[in-house]
Amino acid sequence: MVNYFTDGMDWARYARSRPNIHPTAVRLFRSFVGSDLRFCLALDVGCGTGQSTVALAEVAERVIGIDSSADMLKHATPWPNVEYRETRAEATPFRDGEFNLVAAGQAYHWFEHGAFLAESHRLLREVGWLLVYTSWFTGEIREEPAFRDWFEKEHLGRYPTPPRDRTPLSEELARKHGFELRGQEEFLNELGMTLEHFTDYQLSTTNIIAAVREGTESFDNAERWLRDSLRPFFEGSPEKPFLFNGRTWYAQKPVGG
Ligand SMILES: C[S@@+](CC[C@H](N)C(=O)[O-])C[C@H]1O[C@@H](n2cnc3c(N)ncnc32)[C@H](O)[C@@H]1O
Repeated sequence: MVNYFTDGMDWARYARSRPNIHPTAVRLFRSFVGSDLRFCLALDVGCGTGQSTVALAEVAERVIGIDSSADMLKHATPWPNVEYRETRAEATPFRDGEFNLVAAGQAYHWFEHGAFLAESHRLLREVGWLLVYTSWFTGEIREEPAFRDWFEKEHLGRYPTPPRDRTPLSEELARKHGFELRGQEEFLNELGMTLEHFTDYQLSTTNIIAAVREGTESFDNAERWLRDSLRPFFEGSPEKPFLFNGRTWYAQKPVGG
């Protein structure tokens, strides 16, 4: 799988503009496993600039965020009890059974699923949890159907989504790697974003990073086009309610598993 986050992008822009859906996913997970449960040591796999890692610090005493992109990690948010390491999801340097929680937020679709699940199983103690979650922009501003039309036809027509492995974590796949899939949930987030913020966010997506990498577009051009096309949707209101869907999966390493 190509890692679009390793070079040729603006990591600071990524860090400041990603919609922060992580607290919602972590809150759902927390109430699923029991809100009193606190993990000693959690691992955030594909942590990027640390938004997901910081959210995990709410449920764990210590969190280690790992990512295979050194540049993402250079822009990672420093946080008490959080550290960052450069390493791959599929082969980490940690000891067997070192973690109580392994999480992958917005990142599982970039991993080699089998190898990541086998590595997570190795890293977790018995009864340890694996939390996988993802969120995606629905292409909608609430109560503004014309935006969806623009997004699907114009935006995605110009900047198609590059391939990734969207296969969900199934019961069968979890079991094959020694996990029991205990639950899954869906969520919806409504986030108010300005023209500035939404443009920055779009420029940090792999749709545009891929076009720039392939040489069919430059960030400057994309930024100009986005601003001009999006401006009419912000007339009369500096901030619009953008809708994001999400999904979580909770798997557990059973006793003796
Ligand atoms: C969409 S970003 C998500 C980052 C962060 N979890 C967040 O939500 O802001 C995906 C991250 O996965 C990382 N990544 C992709 N493939 C990886 C792999 N095989 N091992 C470790 N990290 C990987 C990328 O470098 C990138 O930082």
